[in-house]
Amino acid sequence: MKKEVTSKIKRIDTEVDKLRIKRKDTDTLKVKENVFDEPTLKTLYTLSNKKIIEAIGGSISTGKEANIFLAEDEEKDIAVKIYRISSSNFNSMEEYILGDPRFRNVRHSKRDIIFAWTKKEQRNLVRAKDAGIHVPEPIVAERNILVMEFMGENGTPYPQLKGYRLGKENAEKVFNIIINYVDLLYNKANLVHGDLSEYNILMIPEKDEPVFIDMGQSVTREHPRSIDFLRRDIENIVRYFKKYKIIADPQEIYTSIRNKEKKNEENDL
Ligand SMILES: Nc1ncnc2c1ncn2[C@@H]1O[C@H](COP(=O)(O)OP(=O)(O)OP(=O)(O)O)[C@@H](O)[C@H]1O
Ligand SMILES: [Mg+2]
Repeated sequence: MKKEVTSKIKRIDTEVDKLRIKRKDTDTLKVKENVFDEPTLKTLYTLSNKKIIEAIGGSISTGKEANIFLAEDEEKDIAVKIYRISSSNFNSMEEYILGDPRFRNVRHSKRDIIFAWTKKEQRNLVRAKDAGIHVPEPIVAERNILVMEFMGENGTPYPQLKGYRLGKENAEKVFNIIINYVDLLYNKANLVHGDLSEYNILMIPEKDEPVFIDMGQSVTREHPRSIDFLRRDIENIVRYFKKYKIIADPQEIYTSIRNKEKKNEENDL
């Protein structure tokens, strides 16, 4: 990214304007307005004043609830995930938040749910990282904006597992790392990813190393649906790796992960 604009706030405005100039179709305009509404711009200014974001650059992804942008702080590239306040499907968020004991005191207004969701993603990433799972390191969560480590090189994000070509000999290795991460998440971080698939795993090229992302919806084991989510996560991974001729029984993996939980509980007695 170039750094010729001196004022940081101006820089953000310019980049936001550029988004409008680049793509003039009405759909993108709508996206732009939905993402950079007044409160979000204010939060970006706050982050800029705190020197957390120096400049905001191009769009990396437009998802169902959030947009991801490449940005930079004073030293390096960072990733900025902005949950859209206006178009977020917060009804589906509510289900995840309500069953989570960490969010008992969250008020139920749409904004508050989105802010809690953003904080939840940050906390989930911290817990995952502490349990030894490779995830983007969260930097700051401020209202609906999560700033985190940029997982990529020279401004290009690492590819998703989905579009990544794995050699057959490494497929099994990567599969095992992923299953081990699911196990560590459950038994060490007390978390279930909840949306694990080939889309929410990035691959570091050459090293063939998986990185888990997108943990806003991850729930603790106490969540009434955590067991369903765990089963689904495992099934998604097993299904995806069939194309590499890896045959695994999701039920067996599930049981082995749950049995460790029971052992841990016995040791606690
Ligand atoms: N920290 C990061 N570094 C680099 N790229 C990232 C980072 N986080 C997300 N991305 C990119 O943005 C995409 C979307 O991210 P993420 O899955 O977190 O957002 P989302 O809006 O919840 O997605 P969706 O609604 O599509 O599931 C990722 O697939 C990845 O390509
Ligand atoms: Mg995603």
